Amino acid sequence: MKAIVFKRYGEPEVLQVAEVEKPIPKINEVLVRIYATSVTAEDPKMRGFNHPPLLKFPVGLMFGFKKPRNSVLGIEFSGVIETVGSAVKGYEVGDHVFGYTGLGFGAYAEYKCMPENGLLYLKPENLTFEESACIVNGSLSAMVYLMKKGKIKNGDKVLINGASGSVGTAAVQLAKYFGAIITGVCSTKNVEFVKSIGADVVIDYTKQDFTQSDEKYDLIFDTIGKTFMKKCMNLLKPKGKYMLTEFGLTHILAAIFTFLFKNRKIIVASSNFYWKKEDLIFLKEIAEKGYLKPVVDKSFPLEKIVDAHKYVELGHKVGNVAISVK
Ligand SMILES: NC(=O)c1ccc[n+]([C@@H]2O[C@H](COP(=O)([O-])OP(=O)(O)OC[C@H]3O[C@@H](n4cnc5c(N)ncnc54)[C@H](OP(=O)(O)O)[C@@H]3O)[C@@H](O)[C@H]2O)c1
Repeated sequence: MKAIVFKRYGEPEVLQVAEVEKPIPKINEVLVRIYATSVTAEDPKMRGFNHPPLLKFPVGLMFGFKKPRNSVLGIEFSGVIETVGSAVKGYEVGDHVFGYTGLGFGAYAEYKCMPENGLLYLKPENLTFEESACIVNGSLSAMVYLMKKGKIKNGDKVLINGASGSVGTAAVQLAKYFGAIITGVCSTKNVEFVKSIGADVVIDYTKQDFTQSDEKYDLIFDTIGKTFMKKCMNLLKPKGKYMLTEFGLTHILAAIFTFLFKNRKIIVASSNFYWKKEDLIFLKEIAEKGYLKPVVDKSFPLEKIVDAHKYVELGHKVGNVAISVK
């Protein structure tokens, strides 16, 4: 089968089209013919081994220090089941599915085996394959922060920084679904767009520093890690939470300290460790009811993965970048 492989860490050009062996499903697995995947903001970091100092050691242990242990990247996908293992009960050949590969990656390829009980489910019927692939990472991450950690509820005042990114666009829509009053922070070109997906108020970060206002929030969700902890903590209501997807040692220590001793909390998490199959089912349901629509900024064919990585690395994508595999 065709796949995009990388044998060493480096620039986007280390990603190369190659012929690799087609996987064979075990008895409890299905073989998915991948139709679409994505380039998430994490993918270029994995490709280049560009991690914050704190993460280099654990990431190196898991994925290889000198060269990548998993030569095929890609964490989210959609596709069609081509073969089912003899013990598989819940899926049939021809089912349209979407999911998350887990830390083995492998979605930059024509085929991927997935355990029946893995993070795999029937894809939302109203979404294209590209949209279905792109709904997974951003939305599940936003769900962990807003729902599982933030305990978002109707009427909460929520500020979402990076509201135009993958996690941000999902977070705005999910917060709206839960009845929150949303302030989105983005740049001038995305102001109308962020309003259109559900933000009640939009702050243009090129013109205004939201930390200079007197507004107070139940949740401040910095989806891109570009805010200052002290300033944001001052904007929280009592029992408010400041949540970050990108964090360093200081944030981790502050999160432990506030967890133990303070009313206002700092939340940091590696959200993928909290993802469950029920979460995918929830995403499918709310997507089909029209509450959540993944935003696809650009789409590239698999062969143009280098261009897709270059684009994502700029840090200005709006929502997601899809990769069309079939
Ligand atoms: N901890 C976790 O579990 C977890 C989970 C998922 C993702 N992440 C990490 O979270 C980060 C965000 O992921 P993502 O996929 O959402 O990123 P993304 O889609 O690449 O974010 C790009 C967006 O950020 C906006 N942006 C850039 N600078 C900004 C600023 N100063 N203020 C406000 N918005 C700004 C850009 O808008 P403009 O072009 O208008 O600037 C663009 O729309 C990544 O670093 C990713 O690795 C962590």
